[in-house]
Amino acid sequence: MSVRRLHPEQPESFAFTEENAAYVQKVIARYPEGRQASAVIPALMVAQSQEGWISLPAIEVVAKLLDMPDIRVLEVATFYTQFQLSPVGRKAHIQVCGTTPCRLRGADDIIAICKNRLAAHPFELSTDGEFSWEEVECAGACVNAPMVTVGKDTYEDLTVETFNALIDGLVAGNPPTPGPQTERFFSAPQSGGAALTESALYDGSVIGKYRAFDREELTPPPAPAAAAPASPAVVPAPAADAKPAAEKPIPKVVEAQGQADSDKVPDQHKPALIEAARDGKPDDLKLIVGVGSKLEELLHKLGVYHFDQIAGWNEMNLKWVDQHLGSFRGRALRDKWIEQSGKLASGWRPPIHGGGQGGGNPV
Ligand code: FES
Repeated sequence: MSVRRLHPEQPESFAFTEENAAYVQKVIARYPEGRQASAVIPALMVAQSQEGWISLPAIEVVAKLLDMPDIRVLEVATFYTQFQLSPVGRKAHIQVCGTTPCRLRGADDIIAICKNRLAAHPFELSTDGEFSWEEVECAGACVNAPMVTVGKDTYEDLTVETFNALIDGLVAGNPPTPGPQTERFFSAPQSGGAALTESALYDGSVIGKYRAFDREELTPPPAPAAAAPASPAVVPAPAADAKPAAEKPIPKVVEAQGQADSDKVPDQHKPALIEAARDGKPDDLKLIVGVGSKLEELLHKLGVYHFDQIAGWNEMNLKWVDQHLGSFRGRALRDKWIEQSGKLASGWRPPIHGGGQGGGNPV
């Protein structure tokens, strides 16, 4: 982008027309007291639409109107390429995007036409003073490259032919409709859509269909697999001083998950469970790696309180318990609870716990 400076030749003065002054006052009134500076861009735009470009006197008038230092308004005017800092063509000033996507899609040809038909250099007026052009940075319509901006309008998907037609239209005072200069709709795919093309997606013909599917057309689920043959594994007897927990209900959420599972371990593999901890003193099950307070609570609900209970399970017992762990399912097998509990039951304690209580497991 070129350095943007004020034009060396400046007019003596600037004043809004009566109509434009009233409009600018209306814009200023949109902002709260003390925030009039927010109207700087619209006020400069009105000045530009009146004079064709932004002069130093116009900047000073806007600054005074908005109670701003002149330099602040100058900063805005010189920052945005939408503001012209020198006189431009009376009929049109064409801003040609010269950034990579437009460049790759033919911006060079567009610039060549500007040079040949309008003026040899950017910001130079055509011989009749009606046209001028410049190259600008990306105007945000890259998907429709190459493109040009004329005032508030953009002309996109240009070719040599359509850009020449645009200049002809501007000369005749009858420019084409802004937007893509091809058949495509805005930035829709040039060659037509390739996805979501089924008309049923848009014509409403499938509304409510899912209900009929649910009730009538759904293929019945396959019959559940036959129960696995009884395992020869021996269920360990409960400890001598433990009360059997035959009546202890399995937590509901756990039961639901277990039932929904097609490879459910039959209840004959249910290990010996107890109603309460022996002597009211449960082991700290959180010492088992992977067991935290929530999982310990769940084990208590199931009837598991002691390391030696778990240490005495066989693999099928472990699987049975594991499938009753709800959202923790998989932990018992993954963390080898039988092995861990065997060590803990023999008195071993992980060094980090110092032989004491209060494991640091997250769940
Ligand atoms: S590169 Fe030309 S509009 Fe973005």
